[in-house]
Amino acid sequence: MQVAVIGLGYVGLVLAVGLGGLGHQVLGVDADSSRIAVLARGEIPLHEPGLAEHLARHRDHLRFSERVDDRLAEAQVVFVAVGTPPGVTGDADLSAVFRVAEAVGARLRRGAVVVIKSTVPVGTGARVEAILRRVAGFSIPVVSNPEFLAEGSALADFQRPDRIILGGSDAGAMERVAGLFAGVGAPVLRMDRESAELSKYASNAMLAVRISFMNELSRLCEQVGADVTKVGESVGLDHRIGPAFLRAGAGFGGSCFPKDLSALEALGMRHGVRLGVVEAASLANVAQRRHLAQRVIDALGEGVRGARVALWGLAFKPGTDDLREASAGALLRDLIAAGAEVVGWDPVARPGDDPVFSGLSLAEGPLEAVDGADALVLVTEWDHFLTVDPEEVSRRMRGDLVFDGRNALKPDAWTGAGLRYRCVGRPALETE
Ligand code: UDX
Repeated sequence: MQVAVIGLGYVGLVLAVGLGGLGHQVLGVDADSSRIAVLARGEIPLHEPGLAEHLARHRDHLRFSERVDDRLAEAQVVFVAVGTPPGVTGDADLSAVFRVAEAVGARLRRGAVVVIKSTVPVGTGARVEAILRRVAGFSIPVVSNPEFLAEGSALADFQRPDRIILGGSDAGAMERVAGLFAGVGAPVLRMDRESAELSKYASNAMLAVRISFMNELSRLCEQVGADVTKVGESVGLDHRIGPAFLRAGAGFGGSCFPKDLSALEALGMRHGVRLGVVEAASLANVAQRRHLAQRVIDALGEGVRGARVALWGLAFKPGTDDLREASAGALLRDLIAAGAEVVGWDPVARPGDDPVFSGLSLAEGPLEAVDGADALVLVTEWDHFLTVDPEEVSRRMRGDLVFDGRNALKPDAWTGAGLRYRCVGRPALETE
């Protein structure tokens, strides 16, 4: 099928390359000309395992353009995958979605279908359909098809999703979109557009609530002498609950959870429904990051002013170079405010001139980061850190404090190297 994907961020790019891999002819459009130039060279402008190889293999199925032009008229299906960042009220900013609808409506032929991939509040599909009708002069059906891919496993998530959700009222349009994914062996759920739009927010909020709940429990574990990993394992083995997303740590980040929680909360407010659980999940996340920073500050005591703190990992999770809403940024801010000097290292994420990371010095490697450090905080559990020799770290550090913000290190090895090991919600493993 002839397909266009407008917006080549994480979601759009994986979708475009994934659809090319399924044998469709894909036109990928993004207003960022440098991004298009990178793609035109056959490279990928972000860190995502397997995506560059997949692009190389299916290159003849993909074309890229920096503008919506007349080639769009060939498209039978157009995906809208532009960003919906939070606006000042926390609500999703839909201006890019509506701009795309105007541009697309002016070029599409009768019979084309528009699919919304971007995460959008309930009712956006109807608004896009109205714009398309006004601009095109005829009806263009809009199908909601939310994306659930996670960074770091995005291509695998595209190829083997848990489910494909299609929301709309035009059965023919929904079948056309279902046909696009015929090569993907996943259950297809057909529903009204409003339910599909809400499903995405509901999934992300549910996952975030689980993490925040475990993070709050970790703080209780620290007080009562329990081990949050044991509690999580016990809870997760209940088949009604399941084990995923129960890891306590340094808080969640990324381009989706924080933004989608705010947007869902704002949607509720607009409709007179206060989503207290969602609100609490956001607040608990902020509190968890503060709590970790405060523990480091308290452990350093008076010496925090001028202390050198090393951060291991900057990306919001391993497997990505994405720094959006990363816990490392929040920790950095609190540590700098307390007077510490902070040096960090990440295998792929590079903060550049990102203001959230201003004040951070970058080290050449994980060992260089701990040179002369008074405290080390593991923020992102990259494999790179799991194989570092604690004895070598101990030799290089000035102090002896190690905070394992993801419960990822082997406590015995670190205490055995003479370091004071601290973790999240596991007080029995901590050493003085
Ligand atoms: C998420 C959703 O998983 C995905 O379906 C949606 O499409 C986009 O948002 P992503 O943001 O890529 O994906 O990352 P994810 O793997 O879900 O992790 C989000 C954050 O939660 C990370 O900061 C991670 O470190 C944290 N996390 C995850 C925990 O703190 N504990 C856990 O048990 C799991």
